Amino acid sequence: MSSFYITTAIDYVNGKPHLGHAYEKVGTDVLARWRRLMGDDVFYLTGTDEHGSKVEKTAAAAGMDPQSYVDSLVPAFEGAWTALNISHDRFIRTTDADHAATAIALLERIRDNGYLTEKKYEGWYCDGCEAFKTDKDLVEGKCPDHPTMDPRWIEETNLFFKLSEFGDRLLAHYDANPEFVTPAFRRNEVLSLIRAGLLDVSISRSRESVGWGIGIPFRPDSVLYVWFEALINYLTGAGYGQDDATFANRWPAVHVLGKDVTRFHCVLWPAMLMAADIELPSRIFAHGWVLTGGEKMSKSSGVGVEPVAMAERYGADPVRFYLVMEVPWGKDGEFTWERFETAYTAFLANGIGNLLSRSVSMAIKYFGHVPEGPVDRHLFDLCERVVSEATDAYDALRITEGAQAAWAIVRECNEQIQARAPWVMAKDPEQREALASFLYALLESLRIAAALLTPVMPSKCAELQDALGCAGDRDRTGADLLAWGGLQVGGELTKPSPLFPRLDQLLAD
Ligand code: MSP
Repeated sequence: MSSFYITTAIDYVNGKPHLGHAYEKVGTDVLARWRRLMGDDVFYLTGTDEHGSKVEKTAAAAGMDPQSYVDSLVPAFEGAWTALNISHDRFIRTTDADHAATAIALLERIRDNGYLTEKKYEGWYCDGCEAFKTDKDLVEGKCPDHPTMDPRWIEETNLFFKLSEFGDRLLAHYDANPEFVTPAFRRNEVLSLIRAGLLDVSISRSRESVGWGIGIPFRPDSVLYVWFEALINYLTGAGYGQDDATFANRWPAVHVLGKDVTRFHCVLWPAMLMAADIELPSRIFAHGWVLTGGEKMSKSSGVGVEPVAMAERYGADPVRFYLVMEVPWGKDGEFTWERFETAYTAFLANGIGNLLSRSVSMAIKYFGHVPEGPVDRHLFDLCERVVSEATDAYDALRITEGAQAAWAIVRECNEQIQARAPWVMAKDPEQREALASFLYALLESLRIAAALLTPVMPSKCAELQDALGCAGDRDRTGADLLAWGGLQVGGELTKPSPLFPRLDQLLAD
């Protein structure tokens, strides 16, 4: 069984999660579920980034000590991922004890390998980004990503990581591994950054300026800089320094994260791993943003688009579906309630829901069970093509393309029903065999579509499988699941209650 270790960025806990945070967790969940479906031994890691001055300040403003503050907010994150049916294997908190141990173990290894030095840092720091800024990074003295915050001038003698020594090795790795960072346009952005030259990075903060962090044993007046520390969560989740057998099996990781944090993941992090002689991640995928009114959805603009409330109102699967299909993975996409409800009605209630109800009802009415007939070449060929396209896309981490490929089955089946009018065929005894063949093909195409869409809509696809009498598909793994002919002739069908009730009904309840 091959092992597949996949991670998300870990969220700052300075507010409740919004749909932008949910987007990344859902997208990564689709990949984790896809690999599980294909039979891999999957470990999915997500969690929260709890140290640093941003959290420290928000806690102080709330009149709380940082630990109580993060403890009070973390349940909102875990609860949101439960509500959205995220299948993570561990929810890591950077305040977890094993993380502190791993972070220090890595730091010491990097030090022992000669990649730490001590220097005076003089410069700007943006609390919003938790990042050091050069004059060049600021626009009229402000961080462009946090225009309402004033960057702070910092003068400290700190530990520095010798990032400047890694430019050539990083470029060589990118050169030898064209798929290391995708999409390709993000890779090119990162390459430009590296080619422009890398500066050493300050990785400690004096306790005077930031008290809330992991203490450095060989430098008692300092804590680790939050980004340097947070990245190490990916090693903690893999058991680095704690459980060698687990680590050997789990590592390297596939990292999923937003386009705003590529600089850390695609430059600093690989260099840290090189400095510690650890294999680099196998893939890094940078997704875009969920936008509201053209802007990145954020703590302030995301008010009212809370994942838990949405999942309670519409169900988790419609939310997941929207995020995957309507916010193209790798690019940005807008969220509006109107677009969400339009997609619900067009794709779910009228699209797949109606297809299931019509196909099952007709098969029951005309045959009583799954009918038998010669293979319908048109839908057979379509499914074969779709399975190959969707598999390629999901395997390449392109979830929107994978799901859209699968959706071609739903669309084409609905069109074929209109074109072939099975209710007319049913009136002609000579068309009995053709009707049986067509209805089998509709049901079997739906079975295949359900399998391909299970990573996106796990609960609704399970309901679909029940209605088709192939509940056994839920426990099957491997590519065979996607081969034509899985549905048993003569099998029992159940007229389902509407898979996706119309919105007026759903919201009236
Ligand atoms: N704590 C850091 C990540 C450390 S990873 C070692 C951080 N936290 S964050 O809470 O600001 O963002 C967490 C993730 O959510 C990032 O990958 C970020 O891109 C993503 N998103 C936050 N808002 C988003 C949208 N509006 N849309 C899509 N994803 C965005 O950065």
